[in-house]
Amino acid sequence: MSQFHQSIFDPLLHQALKVTEAAAIASYFYIGRGDEKKADQAAVDAMRKAFDTLPIQGKIVIGEGERDKAPMLYIGEKVGMHQGPEIDIAVDPLEGTTLTAKNHPNAISVMALAERGNLLEAPDVYMEKIAIGPNLPKDLIDITASPQKNIKELAKAVKKNVEDLTICVLERPRHQELIAKIRETGARLTLINDGDVAAIMATCLPNGGVDLYLGSGGAPEGVLAAASLATLGGQMQAQLLFDNEDEKQRAFKLGLKDLNHIYKESDLAKGDVLFIASGVTNGSLLKGVSINNGIQEVHSLVLHSFAKATYTIKSNYTKYA
Ligand code: FBP
Repeated sequence: MSQFHQSIFDPLLHQALKVTEAAAIASYFYIGRGDEKKADQAAVDAMRKAFDTLPIQGKIVIGEGERDKAPMLYIGEKVGMHQGPEIDIAVDPLEGTTLTAKNHPNAISVMALAERGNLLEAPDVYMEKIAIGPNLPKDLIDITASPQKNIKELAKAVKKNVEDLTICVLERPRHQELIAKIRETGARLTLINDGDVAAIMATCLPNGGVDLYLGSGGAPEGVLAAASLATLGGQMQAQLLFDNEDEKQRAFKLGLKDLNHIYKESDLAKGDVLFIASGVTNGSLLKGVSINNGIQEVHSLVLHSFAKATYTIKSNYTKYA
């Protein structure tokens, strides 16, 4: 890539950062107050407002849900100043609504931007996911194989004993069988309450403490996690899960043809991808928002695939505008 090439995101980095920062600060006021809905609404409102100052022709492709169910940041909604580059956007204004309501770690505000057509337009359904970190043989993991096989192959590739691997899974009744199978292998299991975007990212981070991520979660979160892998490296496979005919019809409406398709990370997010996450509650990925003596402090992670750049940013505001 020539150094003379400029990414469409270079001039947007700082303004884009304000979008997740605004949502994180708005969520802060709802930390530990037991109301998921209000926390989420505050994040959505703040994020929506912040988009108004971004000089892009943005389209939400992963958002709060379909238009009839989500008044703002719904799939298909146009955001930005309606001028500038055409950008597809995946958002989760508050990833970890329950984490926020209960003041548990790892709630973040997150979004990913890519040139039009480079993010999967997926409905708000479940998605089966498997992910590992960078610098491992291509196609090492296989979503159609058993957890035992994937764990064995990973142990071989990283030259570790299975007992020394840490597998991360969302603690849900639907994962009972998966958890039992992982336990049989002897691998260490980290069971998380919520927040699989951060958990998948952890497979790529030094000291992330996750060797393999397994299990089902939200499809929107799957696309967002894949967007982070565009910079962090790492491999992911994913398959949409449909509960009923209505969900299938929504997928067809978004242009999906093969509902059993197995997606790799680059099918979910490709090209020049800008991924930004701001911490809401303190967590292993990011510190949460804090307010001291009227100064609001927000910590964010900016990943830009074109520049192969990772920025950790701390912003201070006397009053967030
Ligand atoms: P919320 O932000 O809606 O609380 O979602 C958090 C989350 O844990 C995601 O990280 C994950 O993908 C999804 O929920 C799992 O869904 P479910 O809670 O229905 O198992």
